[in-house]
Amino acid sequence: MQFDTILRDATMPDGRKGQDVAIAAGRIAAIEPRIEAEARQVIGARGYLLSPPFVDCHFHMDATLSLGLPRLNLSGTLLEGIALWGELKPQLTHEAVAERALRYCDLAVSQGLLAVRSHVDICDDRLLAVEALLEVKKRVKPYLDLQLVAFPQDGYFRSPSAAENLERALDLGVDVVGGIPHFERTMAEGAASVRALCEIAARRGLMVDLHCDESDDPLSRHVETLACEAHRLCLGGRATGSHLTSMHSMDNYYVSKLLPLIAESGICAIANPLINLTLQGRHDTYPRRRGMTRVAEMRALGVPVALGQDCVMDPWYGLGGADMLDVAHMAVHGAPMTSREAIRWTFDAVTEIPARILGLDGYGLAIGNNADMVLLQAADPIEAVRLRATRLLVIRRGEIIARTPPRETELSLTGRPSSLDPASYAPGLSQ
Ligand code: FE2
Repeated sequence: MQFDTILRDATMPDGRKGQDVAIAAGRIAAIEPRIEAEARQVIGARGYLLSPPFVDCHFHMDATLSLGLPRLNLSGTLLEGIALWGELKPQLTHEAVAERALRYCDLAVSQGLLAVRSHVDICDDRLLAVEALLEVKKRVKPYLDLQLVAFPQDGYFRSPSAAENLERALDLGVDVVGGIPHFERTMAEGAASVRALCEIAARRGLMVDLHCDESDDPLSRHVETLACEAHRLCLGGRATGSHLTSMHSMDNYYVSKLLPLIAESGICAIANPLINLTLQGRHDTYPRRRGMTRVAEMRALGVPVALGQDCVMDPWYGLGGADMLDVAHMAVHGAPMTSREAIRWTFDAVTEIPARILGLDGYGLAIGNNADMVLLQAADPIEAVRLRATRLLVIRRGEIIARTPPRETELSLTGRPSSLDPASYAPGLSQ
């Protein structure tokens, strides 16, 4: 048997060590302790962690890398970010949006991030960003799966042409229905927008992913309506609530009713720790609230929860680097959730779980799946989160598409080793 590639001596995310992975015709052909076969290419994994690619289930690719255009967000709030984006929108060009998105995708690939669900603003009647990102989606398809959400940034009812534009964007090929109920004029209109958007998703057989309750207002309860509508329309796992930050501030008694409702509905939840730990609590003095939704509580009830990045260098967030391990790392601190089990879960929350939310076909390190994988300079998933580990190799359909040298420091210390590999500092700990 002749394979295209064999990776030798990898550690798998489930803890299996010394595994060889054979690749043929762009797919995983075998995973075994020792593969006795020929291959065109043999790669030594040196015991490092082999992971499926990272998946970002919540992003805004139309705004990314626009930091400072036309000015900076001085208050750091969500609302100033939305206003600032409104100032930038008339100045956008197809070419500039596409070029920034392509540059971002280069960065994503370098970080082993090979699937992104990006919201795209449909409130500009030109649908300029929609057309630019549909073009980008086609161009990056060989190396990155880009799923687009029709997002009425200025409100489905509040923006006069959003309803019509949203249908136009879906007709053009945008994949998912979006919304922003907490930005509508009233709570009642917010709830009505959730109903309308879920009905569009049901009618078209699409997924729906709403920016939902991204607010410190404990009375922002649109996730309740989302759960109810998902249940009524049998949307189940096709419906997702993103952000859900008001849940952080809600009364515990109300949450004790809400959480089972969410679990029963089958909806998914996405927390975005980088952005919400910085956007939320801005009207507080002290104590100052954190902006994370109730991740542990939803997990305990079996709700699929994933972690998203949301923003990189745009009107809402000036940092970020397409590093989903950075997102996992921040979630550990922001929640906080420091048990070994919870830190291990954050790794799944930026790989396997969002892959299921996006409905990616052929994802994961199993025989028959796409040969898409990332070799990380870490011994196990927890260490990968701790170190935000270097992506040594990024492989798509069996081909190496990005390579980064291992991080290794030369030391000049008397009586100490001459070099330092940051990985493998706690080999005695199991996951
Ligand atoms: Fe967002």
